[in-house]
Amino acid sequence: MDIAIIGAGYVGTTTGIAFAHQGHRVVLIDTDEKKINTLKQSTLPFYEEGMEELLKQCIAKGNLSFSTSLKNKIDQAQLLFITVGTPSLPDGVADLSAVEHVARQIGRHIKEYKVIVVKSTVPVGTGDKIKGIIQTELQTRNLDIPFDQVSNPEFLREGKALYDAMNPDRIVIGCNTEKGKLMMQKLYKEDKDKILFTSIKDAEMIKYASNSFLATKISFINELARLCEKTGVNIMQVAKGMGLDQRIGPQFLQAGIGYGGSCFPKDTQALLALAKEKEQPLHILQAVTKVNQTQVQWFMEKVKKALGNLAEKRITLLGLTFKPQTDDIRESSSLKIIDYLLKHNAIIKAYDPKGMEHVKKIYPSITYASTPIEAVMEADALLLVTEWKEIIELDWNRIKLLLSQPYVFDGRNALDPSAMVQMGYFYEGIGNAPSN
Ligand code: UDX
Repeated sequence: MDIAIIGAGYVGTTTGIAFAHQGHRVVLIDTDEKKINTLKQSTLPFYEEGMEELLKQCIAKGNLSFSTSLKNKIDQAQLLFITVGTPSLPDGVADLSAVEHVARQIGRHIKEYKVIVVKSTVPVGTGDKIKGIIQTELQTRNLDIPFDQVSNPEFLREGKALYDAMNPDRIVIGCNTEKGKLMMQKLYKEDKDKILFTSIKDAEMIKYASNSFLATKISFINELARLCEKTGVNIMQVAKGMGLDQRIGPQFLQAGIGYGGSCFPKDTQALLALAKEKEQPLHILQAVTKVNQTQVQWFMEKVKKALGNLAEKRITLLGLTFKPQTDDIRESSSLKIIDYLLKHNAIIKAYDPKGMEHVKKIYPSITYASTPIEAVMEADALLLVTEWKEIIELDWNRIKLLLSQPYVFDGRNALDPSAMVQMGYFYEGIGNAPSN
């Protein structure tokens, strides 16, 4: 099928590459000329393992092209995917200005029937808004061009985006017309057994509800970890024991220093903003975000208690991204940790395999090491912030010799506590009682 994807961010680019790889003809559109030029040169504007190779292949096959003009490309696509960003406004409400702008452009330039698919994460009721915008533009042009609307939320995870795009658990399609449904069935014919058809509003809510529920699991286990620590209970064992119950499941029960990234913090805020607007409070979700906002503070208080005064202490951060396998630092717990340490006048050194350039722009004055070994030299304490494989698999016996004090605070419960203690470390994780 011929597809235009409007918005070459993380979701748009991944979706475009996945469709092109499946044999569809895709044009990826973005007003950001720099981004489009980067993509034209077969380079990804972000890091995602394996994706650049596929990008090159799709371009070479002639299935994937790029443009800065929706107007010039709109005629060649039957399906128009909206994948622009919906960042949080200061009050938590999703900023729909980019989505609305695209809807206006569509209304101004379509000449024949189109299926307009919203993949951007948008609040319930946005479908109706988009429809209104397009109809107003068509009325201004004195035209009555038919179009169908679809809400097709995206569930891909950074770092596993290609796998998720090629192997979805489910494909949610919110659509109120038979013709629109048939078009989407044709598009996803290889995964048609995974399709769940719903109304547009239901689909919009499914996306927010899914991310909010996953965030709930994380905050539940993180808050419980605080209690486990006070009662001498090991949260990892608790999570394992809980996760073996099929009704609970083992995923998203990894206690740590909180969730970050471009989705969970933003989507939970947006759902809370909707709840406020409708005067129907979501008490559980309020608590979920509160636990997440305080998890770093709780962790850093532990660090401070163990080390005493943090002023002039040399603290090394291993990992800066919001999770491994990405260069994304949006809403990363590392940023809150840096703020805390700077406030307490600690001397910070940091290492991350992919995220340092982005953090440097926010905190140019802290020291960045080019290897983990360089980062740990003479440190008074190590904070494991992101569970990159290369960090977990360091030679911890050797690291101990390089440190000025053998203190390790594991913000992701990624290391083996008893092995660390055996090596002579003072080790503290999340929700394991202090080991010495
Ligand atoms: C998430 C959703 O998983 C995805 O379906 C949606 O489309 C976008 O948002 P992503 O933001 O890429 O994906 O990351 P995810 O793997 O879900 O992790 C989010 C955050 O939660 C990370 O900071 C991670 O470290 C944290 N996390 C995750 C935990 O602290 N514990 C867990 O058990 C799982």
